[in-house]
Amino acid sequence: MSSPVVILGFAGSLRKGSYNKALLRAAVELAPKDAKLEIFDLEGIPPFNQDLEVQMPERVREFKARIKAADAILLATPEYNYSIPGVLKNAIDWASRPYGDNSFEGKPVAIVSASTGMLGGSRAQYHLRQTFVFLNMYPINRPEVFVTFAGEKFDENGRLTDEMTRKLIGELLQNLVAWTRRLRKE
Ligand SMILES: Cc1cc2nc3c(=O)[nH]c(=O)nc-3n(C[C@H](O)[C@H](O)[C@H](O)COP(=O)(O)O)c2cc1C
Repeated sequence: MSSPVVILGFAGSLRKGSYNKALLRAAVELAPKDAKLEIFDLEGIPPFNQDLEVQMPERVREFKARIKAADAILLATPEYNYSIPGVLKNAIDWASRPYGDNSFEGKPVAIVSASTGMLGGSRAQYHLRQTFVFLNMYPINRPEVFVTFAGEKFDENGRLTDEMTRKLIGELLQNLVAWTRRLRKE
């Protein structure tokens, strides 16, 4: 039997009650049986400073190692001012460095987003997809998971209650696992 697909998920929000962090927790429950979803919290990743990219801060080293050890990546992004939150872009920038040691190289990736607005973070998702070109990542195209009006889709404990969104996340993860296995030529 082939080995489980290890997916590393991280959210572009540091907020305790973050809807995007809650989406990752839902994804852990909804992941297919032949996959394991681990979550990395971006808390403690400092602002990027190119002077430090050879002697990287410990938390960044840990982040890079976790990405490299994963077979696939799941990003949960808020949308800030129609784009990627600085916290997420900052973490991606660290992990892509130093030149020649891009931790994301060749990794399959899927995106989910939640926002309190009516477009559910779609603009941030398309900006993220642009970064995948230079990062040389292989994104899943469908289904697109945009959680609109997020305040209505989680209960008071931060559990995703919207059945349609749960179904879509399940499908997205199945597709990510199948895509990862295809890239591994299994
Ligand atoms: C600085 C800032 C900018 C925002 N800009 C947008 C935006 O462009 N589009 C949108 O749908 N929501 C926007 N929002 C609202 C976020 O969708 C909302 O705060 C969301 O809960 C953030 O994700 P989180 O719950 O994972 O922290 C913005 C929020 C902040 C704090």
